[in-house]
Amino acid sequence: MLNDLSILRHPALLLLSLLLAHVSSAQTATANPKKFVPGEIWLDTQGKPINAHGGGMLHYGSTYYWYGENKAGVSWLPEANRKWDGYRVDVTGIHCYSSKDLYRWKDQGLVLKAVPEDPASDLHPSKVVERPKVAFNPLTRKFVLWMHIDTADYQTARAGVAVADVPTGPFRYLGSTKPEGADSRDQTFFVDDDGKAYRIYSSEWNKATYISLLSDDWLRHVGRYTRAFIGQGLEAQAVFKRHAKYYLIASECTGWDPNPMHAAMADSIWGPWHELGNPCTGPDANTTFGSQSTCVFQVSGKMDAYIIMADQWHKSNLADSRYVWLPIEFEAETPRLEWLGRWELRIFDWPHGDAVTRQ
Ligand code: GAL
Repeated sequence: MLNDLSILRHPALLLLSLLLAHVSSAQTATANPKKFVPGEIWLDTQGKPINAHGGGMLHYGSTYYWYGENKAGVSWLPEANRKWDGYRVDVTGIHCYSSKDLYRWKDQGLVLKAVPEDPASDLHPSKVVERPKVAFNPLTRKFVLWMHIDTADYQTARAGVAVADVPTGPFRYLGSTKPEGADSRDQTFFVDDDGKAYRIYSSEWNKATYISLLSDDWLRHVGRYTRAFIGQGLEAQAVFKRHAKYYLIASECTGWDPNPMHAAMADSIWGPWHELGNPCTGPDANTTFGSQSTCVFQVSGKMDAYIIMADQWHKSNLADSRYVWLPIEFEAETPRLEWLGRWELRIFDWPHGDAVTRQ
């Protein structure tokens, strides 16, 4: 039988026990439900890595719902995408997690599933289903999900929509469209205080950002739109409102590789948009801390508390991509982001003392 001392006499056992201690402390750190650790593996309440990439956040009732791409299985590089390293995993569906406190996430399963039996379906595993965003329409009492639908070579560029009666689905897929007769790739979905909803998306081969008004049921584009950031090549849009100003966060277009973040502000969703440059500061600001924006949401019950969600993509192993969530600071009207190694929601309270570790 082994006792503590016998471990010291067996170098292999010693190494193994050190390794196990390291793994278990790493797991404790990532599973600890009381802090955010950007870039680490984040576990759900069953101890499984959260799988919700390019995601969005809905706050409904007293619960947060996090929707994202389920990136499962092997990443591979289709011949057509070789030039730009366009790795993919086959589509499995949109994953949803729920939480009361933003730290502990309960797996609600795939709320929109791939359709393997129909190769023509937008949801066939061979397609692209990305950047899902969900909002609740109080008029129809439906949960509306908009997403980027594409073929594996990203040449089809459509906007897909689905609805559900409850936030945890299942969502019923209604089809896809080429809004305003143009292409639609990376996208987000923004609901204003007056209940009007807009899709904001990369169009014209990513050379312009389109902002389109949706119908009252939020299921159709009504034909009123504007073209913004023309010639800039932006994507990964996230839109939010603070103190009557509209903010748009976006990335540049470099596939899965990170690049500098862009921010802009406007008095109206239609613009004109006043550019604010890159809100990130400090080391790795030029690569958005190795990540790409996907959504900004407000923390319920806290004053002026906005969190940005971003993805740290691992292109040759997309399933291992990580999450970077950071609090947005505002210097007057200007957003600022700095890397925080660990942080807690108490950062939004004052004084926040030890709620943050910078490294
Ligand atoms: C990025 C985009 C991602 C995904 C990726 C494919 O530019 O933001 O959502 O489409 O390209 O390489």
